[in-house]
Amino acid sequence: MQFPAVQQVCVLGSTGSIGVSTLDVLARHPEQYSVYALTARERVAELAQQCRRFTPRYAVVLDEGRAAELRRELSESGVATEVLCGVAGLCQVASDARVDVVMAAIVGAAGLRPTLAAVKAGKKVLLANKESLVMAGPLFMAALTESGAQLLPIDSEHNAIFQCLPYPCDSLEAAGVEKILLTGSGGPFRNREVEELENVTPDEACAHPNWSMGRKISVDSATMMNKGLEFIEACYLFHASPQDIDIVVHPQSIIHSMVQYRDGSLLAQMGNPDMRTPIAHALAFPERIDSGVPALDLIAQGRLDFEAPDETRFPSLRLAREAIITGGSAPTVLNAANEVAVAAFLDGQLAFTAIPLIIEDVMNSAEVVELTGLDVVELADREARNLAEEALQRLRKAGAGSGETPELRSM
Ligand SMILES: NC(=O)c1ccc[n+]([C@@H]2O[C@H](COP(=O)([O-])OP(=O)(O)OC[C@H]3O[C@@H](n4cnc5c(N)ncnc54)[C@H](OP(=O)(O)O)[C@@H]3O)[C@@H](O)[C@H]2O)c1
Repeated sequence: MQFPAVQQVCVLGSTGSIGVSTLDVLARHPEQYSVYALTARERVAELAQQCRRFTPRYAVVLDEGRAAELRRELSESGVATEVLCGVAGLCQVASDARVDVVMAAIVGAAGLRPTLAAVKAGKKVLLANKESLVMAGPLFMAALTESGAQLLPIDSEHNAIFQCLPYPCDSLEAAGVEKILLTGSGGPFRNREVEELENVTPDEACAHPNWSMGRKISVDSATMMNKGLEFIEACYLFHASPQDIDIVVHPQSIIHSMVQYRDGSLLAQMGNPDMRTPIAHALAFPERIDSGVPALDLIAQGRLDFEAPDETRFPSLRLAREAIITGGSAPTVLNAANEVAVAAFLDGQLAFTAIPLIIEDVMNSAEVVELTGLDVVELADREARNLAEEALQRLRKAGAGSGETPELRSM
């Protein structure tokens, strides 16, 4: 693909943790990248501030009320950015003919349509929004093949695996790969007594020992559903079967994942836990640019530890594996139920330990269908959300709120 001298970048979800890190990297290379569009859901003040700094052609927010607020703020500061709104606005900027690179960093299922729009338009897509791939993997990968878009993983683990594989790599077998070792820190509750997990608060769950991230992915890390979603993501991205991937707990988050080859070689990608490294890698690939991340000091680091994952403590790992093995809409259902349960936990409506119970309950009752189109994906997503809301209501009726572990299966 031939890029113009200055690449135009659209940052979907620019006010989030990944969005802000992306802007930090872009700001270091004004001669190579120009910010073309920025988007947010509701944090208008932050988005206005970003528009003043980067003067994009477009800014997008979720609804008309916030769009009016943003237009007012921008006109008061003399910024000429045009403000759009809604999913249509997101898809428009993600597929705009003048855009070269799209950073897909909206959180959750809301990222699906705009990310897919970027893929269909043949962009270089930097994928942070793993939920869109998990919920619509087969469609997503087919759209990629059809459009010739380039998909580069931003999740530090997948970015590490990508760096440890030959490029391109259409077959692990042909590349001599025996296993992908997907590492995870084990989150903030790796060593917490299981009985104590029931009463942990959202703030405790969001206090990740190594990474600073948005609240949804932080809770996913605490339940290890993040690793489960990444397991599914890795199956799609690297044409891997579930048997090709092992999860390894590595509490320091220095090794970001590994690839084991037939000849006994084990390649690892290492670095400080800072998302600007995978962002800079994917932005500049196949070249390398400065990310602002200091070099890893191995002597100061001293040691690296590894453990097997504990699927009793973290049932989400088992649920995710079951979902990808079942196939069809099962990962869509898993993702939707997880989003509803995590939102309820963050809202103080659900005990931490009830998150996987809600997901399993929904997975047991949802119909699994083949993903033949976007409408089928969105229907499966909606139905799973409804089932999850019903499960939450059954819990509330039974008087089991936050702080109590409900026996959902017996209700
Ligand atoms: N953070 C990390 O270190 C990390 C690492 C690997 C992968 N990821 C993945 O990257 C994605 C973003 O994570 P994050 O931690 O950056 O999340 P975050 O901090 O919560 O930011 C999410 C971004 O998406 C926007 N957004 C939320 N809901 C939206 C909706 N319904 N429609 C349109 N925009 C919406 C938010 O806008 P407002 O600010 O206005 O709410 C914000 O800009 C997730 O899929 C996550 O799994 C994150």
